[in-house]
Amino acid sequence: MGTNRYRASTEAALRLTETGSRRSDLYGRRTGRPLSGQQEALIGSLLPRLIVSSGSIDLPSLFPGAKNFALEVGFGGGEHLVAQSQAFPSTGFIGCEPFLNGLAKLLSQIDALALKNIRIHTDDARDVLVRLPDQSLSSVFVMFPDPWPKVRHHKRRFFQRQTLDLLARVLRPGGELRLATDHMDYARWALAHLMADVRFRWSARSAADWRVRPEGWPPTRYEQKALIAGRSCVYLAFQRA
Ligand SMILES: C[S@@+](CC[C@H](N)C(=O)[O-])C[C@H]1O[C@@H](n2cnc3c(N)ncnc32)[C@H](O)[C@@H]1O
Repeated sequence: MGTNRYRASTEAALRLTETGSRRSDLYGRRTGRPLSGQQEALIGSLLPRLIVSSGSIDLPSLFPGAKNFALEVGFGGGEHLVAQSQAFPSTGFIGCEPFLNGLAKLLSQIDALALKNIRIHTDDARDVLVRLPDQSLSSVFVMFPDPWPKVRHHKRRFFQRQTLDLLARVLRPGGELRLATDHMDYARWALAHLMADVRFRWSARSAADWRVRPEGWPPTRYEQKALIAGRSCVYLAFQRA
């Protein structure tokens, strides 16, 4: 019974995505432990109201009255997205995350805190990036992206030429791209791509800027795990030229 209920909610959530059960080459698993009854109920009732529908995205219609718009790639359990949404109530946030259990955690927080400025895409963030207008976002957050450490998997890393083209198009001039990672090879990889791209300017002024989590960067669950395991984290901010 529990398993059937779980399957039903998983399938309902996947039906709300454009790609359905197709697994992107960018991310790993979509499901984990069974959801609670409350989480399943929110997937049925709240998620359909928050989902970003297909077609080109009209941000002012999605977030009536919002002054700025931002996007988070892979929000995990939603800690960072929720903190940003509370800190900037007049910004509309689109959160993208294919992992169903993370999505369920975010929905519980949106419900409990009555947050009004978050919309959700339950799949690959690139699906949203391609549908956003030019220069429409003030910020993009990529907090602890999957590092894909094996060389044969590097092509799955989020920071690739094609993704930078999408980010450069949707960020407005002066807009910010934030990346945090505990994987030094990934940090080097992302820096190499971004430093070679004249459309982005690294905002660091000193080493302390990228070794210490800056003010206004809410912590994430993955970051806490990395710090407990003794791994240091890197925080990189880039400005769209
Ligand atoms: C290592 S976890 C970090 C989660 C969260 N940001 C944190 O710091 O706790 C990376 C997350 O990114 C998601 N992800 C990976 N590729 C993605 C993509 N192309 N679009 C959206 N989410 C993606 C994964 O499902 C996973 O939940």
